[in-house]
Amino acid sequence: MKQISINTTISVLLKEELSQEEATLMMQAVEARSKAYAPYSKFTVGAAILLDNGIVVQGSNQENAAYPSGLCAERVAIFYAGATYPDAKIVKMFITASPQDRDLEEPIPPCGSCRQAIAEYEFKQDIPIAIFFMGAKGDIYKSDSLKNLLPLVFDKNHL
Ligand code: THU
Repeated sequence: MKQISINTTISVLLKEELSQEEATLMMQAVEARSKAYAPYSKFTVGAAILLDNGIVVQGSNQENAAYPSGLCAERVAIFYAGATYPDAKIVKMFITASPQDRDLEEPIPPCGSCRQAIAEYEFKQDIPIAIFFMGAKGDIYKSDSLKNLLPLVFDKNHL
């Protein structure tokens, strides 16, 4: 039997190691998280996306009494970016997540559906998207491309 090994690289950063631009994006993700509508899970997520035109788009999770009708923060932000600035390239995305009543220190990764959505835009623009994610505080994980978070990604070439 043949086996394939898949390696992935994630950088682990302290807040102090972020560039000025990244630290600002982090604050914008934190601000977005404060606007989450999460009355059911009480788990709040914020995302901030920096576009190559300098505009920052924010999103937070938006829940619904019919649970599957809600949407994650990352997709709220990235779909808004795609719908509003269809020609802009996404440079960086910062995500922060934690339950409403406590501050997680563990970095919270984007869910599978959000990774697939981010992958679509990375393929579309053919430029990697840097993805940063954290809890409410503590270490920040950074992936230089969505591909590091979703090996064997399904994309348009498979259709
Ligand atoms: N959530 C996100 O916003 N992003 C993710 O990547 C994972 C989960 C939201 C969805 C739901 O409102 C809450 O977190 C609990 O799953």
